[in-house]
Amino acid sequence: MKIKLYLFLSSMLLLTGVLSAKFYSTSDSPRTTQLFDKAWHFKFGDVKDGQNPSLDDSHWRLLNLPHDWSIEGHFQSETNNKDLPEFHVVKGEWKFKEGDNTLWKNPGLNDNSWQTVELPSTWEKSSNYTKDYVYGWYRRELTIPADLKGKDIYINVGKIDDADETYFNGVKVGGMGSFPPNYTTAWDQLRYYKVPHEIIRYGEKNCIAVRVFDGIQSGGIYDEGEKVIEGPFESTCPGGSGTGYLDGGIGWYRKTFKLPENIKDKCVFVEFDGVYMNSDVWINGFHLGNRPYGYSSFQYELTKHLKFGDEKNVIAVRVDVQQPCSRWYSGAGIYRNVRLTITDPVHIAHWGTYITTPEISEKEATVHIKTNIMNQSLSAKQVTLVTNIVDESGNKIGSSSSIQTIKADNVSTFTQVVKIQEPKLWSLENPILYRVESRVYVDNNLVDDSETPFGIRSFEFTKDKGFFLNGKHVNINGVCLHHDLGSLGAAVNKRAIERELEIMKNMGCNAIRTSHNPPAPELLDLCDRMGLLVMDEAFDEWKMNKTKFGYGRFFDKWSKRDLTDMILRDRNHPSIILWSIGNEIPEQGSPNAYEMSKLLVDICHQEDSTRPVTSACNTPGEAVKSGYSKPLDVLGINYNPVFYNTLKGKVKLFGSETASTVSTRGEYNLIKDGDSLKIVQELNNQCSSYDMDAPSWANVAETSLKAVKNAPWIAGEFVWTGFDYIGEPTPFSWPSVISYFGIVDLCGFPKDRYYLYQSQWTSKPMVHILPHWNWKGFEGMKIPVWCYSNCESVELFLNGKSLGEKKFSDTKDLHLAWEVPYSPGTLKAVAKINGKIVCTDEVQTAGDPAKIILVPDRKEIRADGKDLSYVKVEVVDKEGRICPNADNLINFEVKGEGTIVGVGNGNPISHEFFKANNRKAFHGLALVIIQSTDKNGEINITANSDGLKESEVIIKTKN
Ligand code: GAL
Repeated sequence: MKIKLYLFLSSMLLLTGVLSAKFYSTSDSPRTTQLFDKAWHFKFGDVKDGQNPSLDDSHWRLLNLPHDWSIEGHFQSETNNKDLPEFHVVKGEWKFKEGDNTLWKNPGLNDNSWQTVELPSTWEKSSNYTKDYVYGWYRRELTIPADLKGKDIYINVGKIDDADETYFNGVKVGGMGSFPPNYTTAWDQLRYYKVPHEIIRYGEKNCIAVRVFDGIQSGGIYDEGEKVIEGPFESTCPGGSGTGYLDGGIGWYRKTFKLPENIKDKCVFVEFDGVYMNSDVWINGFHLGNRPYGYSSFQYELTKHLKFGDEKNVIAVRVDVQQPCSRWYSGAGIYRNVRLTITDPVHIAHWGTYITTPEISEKEATVHIKTNIMNQSLSAKQVTLVTNIVDESGNKIGSSSSIQTIKADNVSTFTQVVKIQEPKLWSLENPILYRVESRVYVDNNLVDDSETPFGIRSFEFTKDKGFFLNGKHVNINGVCLHHDLGSLGAAVNKRAIERELEIMKNMGCNAIRTSHNPPAPELLDLCDRMGLLVMDEAFDEWKMNKTKFGYGRFFDKWSKRDLTDMILRDRNHPSIILWSIGNEIPEQGSPNAYEMSKLLVDICHQEDSTRPVTSACNTPGEAVKSGYSKPLDVLGINYNPVFYNTLKGKVKLFGSETASTVSTRGEYNLIKDGDSLKIVQELNNQCSSYDMDAPSWANVAETSLKAVKNAPWIAGEFVWTGFDYIGEPTPFSWPSVISYFGIVDLCGFPKDRYYLYQSQWTSKPMVHILPHWNWKGFEGMKIPVWCYSNCESVELFLNGKSLGEKKFSDTKDLHLAWEVPYSPGTLKAVAKINGKIVCTDEVQTAGDPAKIILVPDRKEIRADGKDLSYVKVEVVDKEGRICPNADNLINFEVKGEGTIVGVGNGNPISHEFFKANNRKAFHGLALVIIQSTDKNGEINITANSDGLKESEVIIKTKN
């Protein structure tokens, strides 16, 4: 009910879909570009002839873009048939045989000679079948009661490692993962298959036969599992744990709009920053194109198909997310911005401005500007391009003018060079941006103009000393980020991205890897403006799929286009220092590795010769041997720090992906072990925040940090990951739905590890103490206490009594450790440099939860219908101390010029809705994200919970 209310409220805020006349006024600029995000109709599921302009979509849901239907989740339960009988078939006796033979599916087969096994179990355990890359078959009988006659049923075949095909009476009823040669695993997906009544023998025995392929590690029908739908999550989602048990499917969007008569002779384009995925777009029934890759930006021209005046235009978009197609939460829908652009027939082409700064000295910088201008009119035109360079304060500091005749229906490239005196360099500390203003004239009339920000900076990767920006050594202290924005899902919001970057910067992070796909353009704009370096990545896979319906199926046809488009779109951003042609590409070690890698590297060089090309390699040895790494300018090493040494001096190197430490904010997993306490790394689907846990291929944060420190010839590292993201909940699967890899949780609340990085990456004195100090029942027992600090020493005090001072020079660890017998009170860390106290941190034992405190990150936001205030919700005791174990359910009420767009708490096993007006606290914290309307005013937020004193906060919204 609460969800429905939320949707209703947001649809009240929509515009009508009729574009205002003001938008098309051509008085100032002949080009108009405006967001085309409001008042779209949306329908989940496929629609026959959904592109037909006369289709009645009035009953479809009305919403504003960007939109991600996957995060909402409630569609799947509506489309599932919950009434059919369900048979759990895993538990019990099965017949098993190693090998593979299609005849083994037949119901009549005599399987008496097969091994009898008790499931669930891996076949390593039940049959000592330990080889990798092998097949095996299971068979069992199932009697279906006669009184079900005529009904379809579901069979629950449990979790199968890795891929299966399941037969019922010899007929295939399901299969997950895929068999060689295009093998992909589905080890964590629950097999829940529908059996049609036509093939069922009611009142008799039926035969279930399961063909299984095992890649590496264990194989077989190893686990039971239940179909569970909780909040937006569903345990049987085809995307499995990878996509966080949130579903994809098909969705349609339609928007109706009118255009004034006075733009009849103009060119009209629609531009999508990204649609996940496999979108088809129609205008007035005409098919404009298909774009499979969900992370590519693209534009279509609408001109020829438009109607003007009172006649309506209908743009329709079909989106097809066939899961599993991603290893992480992808989202689903038109999840990035859409714009409508209207130009004169003579205009600057899409992504038509390319700015480079080939020569830079203190005195002067040379700026090269290449501009592609299109003449879409019916006759040749003499075109003048005036290019001005404007500094940050708006002063024109350079200019160039060129004339060319452009034939009808042709594109010409104008090349101009402008020198700038005493250029101010773009740097991390001072990210100065200039801009190119391009003005296009025909017959002395201004027919087009545009602005392109750029920066002046030089950089270099070296084989022996790492990375240099403007001649100064910079260690890349980077993080990998997936594109989802926590509780907002994949739907892009600029403030949400900005906040993520602020949180990362505050930790000392100076670089972002857009793992593993082209990001939203907003992220690049923000990195330019905030002074962050970027590794812009194209792909997570090439032809060899990592998931059954992944990009591999589009690679041959689309990779050249997708990579080219990424570079054309992004190449003016000063923040970008690397193009990446892919992450952990399975072809790394294959015979055609060199050709494939060379082809893609050449595309990058051709479209932009100013930046090095890399790829993130998880098997660097193979990548070197196969020739995969040869065309690369810089080699990215994922994990495997030993290769920093093996390849030292041979190639330019950096840690493209490091760490992958897993932890849960606020969980320490301390349990009694006789008279002492021990830290259990993984307990009840939570990982300890002592940060001692990482998967087999990875390292804990301290190990990675030390490896990078000890290899000063490499350029630095990108830690996996800055933020927790939805999906890939390694080392667990259901009920875990969120990753544990983040340095901060899904809400952006720091885990302890945040302060480890801060201690290594920043110089302003800081100290952080862990764990919390609420250990009722553990009185007198020794609690491991750790401090992260960038100071020389830390002295620890319990209730005013010193427990001794420890120095970093006395340990190889990046933390200082004490064992402190627990008694409640205050534990204080006092950090010193040269014996002088420079900072402190403390944890105090909190009493029972007594009240709520709301802490907005911004008390005044823009009244633009997009801006956000992130309100942290603290559950505190009488004295205002955060209660580290509080999990109270908090209800929110919002009045005035704002709405709730997301709630969260960072708990990786919470199954609550992200779109709701309540949330349980997790370790004393929760989050509510408030979005402004486009009216000036106030937003009043109240939070209440049973037994707690309520809290209220007011946020102002201003235009
Ligand atoms: C890497 C991979 C990432 C993520 C990570 C988790 O191998 O590149 O996308 O899956 O492992 O540790």
